Amino acid sequence: MSGSFLNFIVRLVPVGFILLVDICSIFLEIKKEEKMRIRNIYKKPTTLGCNAGSRCCSISAVIWSLLGCLLLLHLYSSIHLKTGEGREFQPHLSHRRRDLYHLPQLRELQQVEEENIQLPPPKGKRSPRAAKRRRRRITPLVDEFLDEDSRMRHVFFPGNKSAIDPMKHAGNDSYYYYPGRIWLDTNGHPIQAHGGGILYDEKSSTYYWYGEYKDGSTYHAHKKGAARVDIIGVGCYSSKDLWTWKYEGIVLAAEEANETHDLHKSNVLERPKVIYNDKTRKYVMWMHIDDTNYTKAAVGIAISDTPDGPFQYLGSQRPHGYESRDMTVFKDEDGVAYLIYSSEENMVLHIGPLTEDYLNVTSVMGRAFVGQRREAPAVFKHQGTYYMITSGCSGWAPNEALAHAAESILGPWETMGNPCVGGNKMFRIATFLSQSTFVLPLPGFPGSFIFMADRWNPADLRDSRYVWLPLIVAGPVDQALDYSFGFPLWSRVSVYWHKKWRLPQGWSTFK
Ligand code: DGJ
Repeated sequence: MSGSFLNFIVRLVPVGFILLVDICSIFLEIKKEEKMRIRNIYKKPTTLGCNAGSRCCSISAVIWSLLGCLLLLHLYSSIHLKTGEGREFQPHLSHRRRDLYHLPQLRELQQVEEENIQLPPPKGKRSPRAAKRRRRRITPLVDEFLDEDSRMRHVFFPGNKSAIDPMKHAGNDSYYYYPGRIWLDTNGHPIQAHGGGILYDEKSSTYYWYGEYKDGSTYHAHKKGAARVDIIGVGCYSSKDLWTWKYEGIVLAAEEANETHDLHKSNVLERPKVIYNDKTRKYVMWMHIDDTNYTKAAVGIAISDTPDGPFQYLGSQRPHGYESRDMTVFKDEDGVAYLIYSSEENMVLHIGPLTEDYLNVTSVMGRAFVGQRREAPAVFKHQGTYYMITSGCSGWAPNEALAHAAESILGPWETMGNPCVGGNKMFRIATFLSQSTFVLPLPGFPGSFIFMADRWNPADLRDSRYVWLPLIVAGPVDQALDYSFGFPLWSRVSVYWHKKWRLPQGWSTFK
């Protein structure tokens, strides 16, 4: 029996149960009516005609029950069509697109790959107290990861020898992503595009990857402040195959002299994202702008006529008058773009449409995940549903990712749980030791995406690594949702761990 048929049966159970209850209540109603009739034979007839009244009651009960059943069936079928399971029955999908779902290459990406990470025994003599503390810790893997002297450093941050060098890798290793390894550009230098995002430029049929260029030394501005690198600028790389990246230069550079400028090197520029405005024909960059202590909490905007810059900085603002830290932008199919940002002391995520020229926010703003402290948002869309991956707030340290879904991008947003699949439990609750930054749709494979994340190295931020993994939207969610009446409203979002993986063959020809 196929999985989807089984699912269909499972989902039918509650509807069947309600139908049964309905039939039973009709039966009881008829029985009651009969009893009444027998009793009434021995009673004096009244002018109101009690028999007729009781018949009326049972007829209306039957009609209401049937109506209820019809309503439930309708609700069920519409919900069923909305989930990934109903996808095969959607008439608007072409045959070619439907077949792509069952491509063996995609099945390969959905293989659950275990990762047996053995933590070394604790160093030195263990006091009973230390042993107890260690046992109590939920995330010993993260502690080990953050330990600069860890004996597993080479596991978390493999050295130069294993770097991915698209100019040298030929044959069998071509096009393979190795999450966590050093990734070299076509000049042989480690790619510097942290907290980044990708724009597909239709005009040149080229992908552009923008991110924080962090090739400077890491230091702490204050004893208790976060590790930082002075602003150098936004790095830009171009590619046709999403694997070989050519360095296009720093497309928005730091300001060296003017200390009052947002881009002065002593400030913070994080998570730059670029979208193209079809009306103004400008490439528009939004980014997180802050001071050393993260108290400015603003967004910066820059524009360019070409994807490879240079970008002209237009200034910064607090969107809607609120604090803005981790952020992203999302351009919808209808051309409307949105700013999504962590606000209100990172307690709430704000989402608001941009003006037509993408240079400002409008007065509309939705609030999501109130009190949940989510950041690092990465938004994507599939079959009319909006999805988002977020992280918790723990500085540069990894934490558990969550997947969310919504029918309207402004909300309400539902949380579906941790999307990570494979690895091991500790690895999963640390998002494979990384933090979300962007989700890129894979052309030609509806429901397939690349999950882009950063494995931050707080001891040496320039040496932070990229964790790219396949993200698939399919199958039922594993956490019941508020608005679902017991049915899952959305499809599951899964990020599959792979030590090495590559895009399905022929992906680029499906554009
Ligand atoms: C977590 C954020 O996601 C990063 O972009 C960065 O701001 C760090 N915090 C700084 O500690």
